[in-house]
Amino acid sequence: MAEFIMAAQNGRIIPKEDKIFGISRRANEMIEEKGEEAVVNATIGTLLDDDGELMVLSSVDDTFMGLEPEEYAGYAPIGGIPAFRKAAVRAALGKYEPKGYTEAVASPGGTGAIRNIIANYSCPGDKVLTSDWHWSPYGTIASELGRSVETYEMFNEDRQYNAEGLWEKTKQLLDAQDRLVIIINTPAHNPTGYALTNDDWKRVTDLLSNVPPEKRVTLLIDTAYIDFAGDEEQYRAFFPILETLPANILPTIAYSMSKTFTIYGMRCGAAICLAPTQEIAEEFRRVCEFSSRGSWSNCAKAGQSIIANIYADEALLARVSAERKDIREMLLARGRAFEEEARRVGLTIVPFDAGFFVSIPCDDPDAISAKLEKEGIFLVPLAKGLRVSVASISEEKCRRIPAKILAAMQ
Ligand SMILES: Cc1ncc(COP(=O)(O)O)c(C=O)c1O
Repeated sequence: MAEFIMAAQNGRIIPKEDKIFGISRRANEMIEEKGEEAVVNATIGTLLDDDGELMVLSSVDDTFMGLEPEEYAGYAPIGGIPAFRKAAVRAALGKYEPKGYTEAVASPGGTGAIRNIIANYSCPGDKVLTSDWHWSPYGTIASELGRSVETYEMFNEDRQYNAEGLWEKTKQLLDAQDRLVIIINTPAHNPTGYALTNDDWKRVTDLLSNVPPEKRVTLLIDTAYIDFAGDEEQYRAFFPILETLPANILPTIAYSMSKTFTIYGMRCGAAICLAPTQEIAEEFRRVCEFSSRGSWSNCAKAGQSIIANIYADEALLARVSAERKDIREMLLARGRAFEEEARRVGLTIVPFDAGFFVSIPCDDPDAISAKLEKEGIFLVPLAKGLRVSVASISEEKCRRIPAKILAAMQ
């Protein structure tokens, strides 16, 4: 572990090099040496075309190019420009009109929303609960805030979503703390591609309804990939189930514009609540804005203006949705290709539905990943297996690699 010279460690574990960027660097070095075709770089979390180029929706790009200086050069209000806040709720909820009260506060990507919700709905020293398979920055964000992450097993022995495991850990943590933030990343979960079914959600909400009334739970639904799972309305059908929760359980959404609008670098997103009362919704807005002021102040205005302008023009919105549908079809075909080929060769994958990533459970992921690197296959080793980004490789490569992964495991 690195020694700290001037900086304070503050309980954090800070590696010298980010693991994923290190692997990606080695993949690029091999591409330089042996050429594009010899290398499969399945580490990258952005949607790339079959030639490895970033895919950008031209409708969004045109909207960006058409911005007036006032729409990007001035400060945005701390909580976001009003038209953006409205658009963010529409973008997140689709056609669903909540019974309760919503508020949206601008954030730098989904990451900023996750940060502000953890900061305001848990206390220093608390544990935040998520599944064992999870996006590792949750741990980074929690440790930056003096919290830590606790996990439950995401799947039971029957390969079903383990709502009971989530509930057991919830009870244990609430014995020791008064508040709990539970992060559920769905649909198209990173790193497994799983989506909670409506039945999974009913089990989760039924169990959480038993939280003692004096305890407070915040459900943080990370929907970073919601528009890449399949039909956009169908994958939003779980929202009404959340509104059956009692008032001491607050459903919130970390909505990211990064993937949905292909503006990863714009740092645009929103923290959204589905509150049962206006008071709770207003409090949500107030505390999130306060945290924004004390961390990044206001967010970049350009992304907010792009989203506001898209939602102000139904024809433009339809163009964006149609373009997104095309790139989503391409991604879904890659996922299916990987899944089919894995089944054909007998490679077990973690329950998968759709999205940017597929995971393979295995022992010693670091050793297997190092072995695969020698053959030009670059994946991300996680605690419990390997993550393959089908978002960044062609359908042909998705078919090519399952047999090679299996061979490396054997
Ligand atoms: C699971 C998950 N949540 C949230 C995010 C946040 O993305 P951003 O902050 O770029 O919007 C990502 C991005 O990779 C992610 O994979």
